Amino acid sequence: MSEKIRIDKSTSLLVLTGAGVSAESGIPTFRASADGLWEKHRIEDVASPEGFAEDPAMVWRFYSERRAKAKSVAPNPGHHALASLEEQLGDRFMLATQNVDGLHGRAGSKRVVEIHGSLFKTRCSRCDREPFADETVYGHDEVPGCGRCASEGGSSLLRPHIVWFGEMLDPVDLHKISRFMSNANKLLFVAAGTSGAVYPAAGFVQTARRYGGQTILVNQEAADNGGQFHRWIQGRSGEVLPSLFDVE
Ligand SMILES: NC(=O)c1ccc[n+]([C@@H]2O[C@H](COP(=O)([O-])OP(=O)(O)OC[C@H]3O[C@@H](n4cnc5c(N)ncnc54)[C@H](O)[C@@H]3O)[C@@H](O)[C@H]2O)c1
Ligand SMILES: [Zn+2]
Repeated sequence: MSEKIRIDKSTSLLVLTGAGVSAESGIPTFRASADGLWEKHRIEDVASPEGFAEDPAMVWRFYSERRAKAKSVAPNPGHHALASLEEQLGDRFMLATQNVDGLHGRAGSKRVVEIHGSLFKTRCSRCDREPFADETVYGHDEVPGCGRCASEGGSSLLRPHIVWFGEMLDPVDLHKISRFMSNANKLLFVAAGTSGAVYPAAGFVQTARRYGGQTILVNQEAADNGGQFHRWIQGRSGEVLPSLFDVE
């Protein structure tokens, strides 16, 4: 590989990861399927509020399978490289991930913002109780109900704590990320394993540039927003990330 990227004492590093970073762990990317299906499902059936209203049991079956799959795989060298960068940089590091598989946390990353939610959290589809940790793989036709709503005489379904199509990202998460960029003395932004098609994450590169940041893309194939980066390193994140940086 060509020259390493130097991280000096005044640099803050924001990393954005997407499904590609988990591909080497054996979790298929979304766009790996050219047929527009995600694990044999139409995306709008399993990843939209309308799909959930239509067939909550099918949606829970889908996310239960994703939970079981994510639990059965392990973080790869790309995840580990990011965890070790964080160890060296401390608060000068932030990781924003579109992945919901929890692999960054399992690799040891702590300053992680899961902007699309988490497979391992559940929340109520109606009331405002906090999302809670949940690793349950539900039975075939099982749809869990909200205990809090039930205790108040109502009934409502629990749903995965995932940001579905047509839903807003948590403004608190987005604020954290933009504050990190605006506070950086010298900003370095690295996006890895993401097709740059889903906003607002695909727009982080522009924000980083507005703050004067250097921007680097590590991706196997050309990304939709690839032209906006200063540099594209083509390759697998698990092979590129472990030796990409030179930390002062
Ligand atoms: N692991 C997960 O949690 C997971 C998996 C699938 C989809 N999703 C969700 O679906 C959406 C998909 O958008 P996205 O941009 O994250 O993913 P994407 O599937 O749209 O794109 C993945 C990108 O990664 C690249 N890639 C594949 N393998 C790679 C590797 N080993 N190293 C580097 N790059 C590699 C591909 O060329 C592609 O451009 C997200 O919103 C995400 O929440 C999550
Ligand atoms: Zn409730």
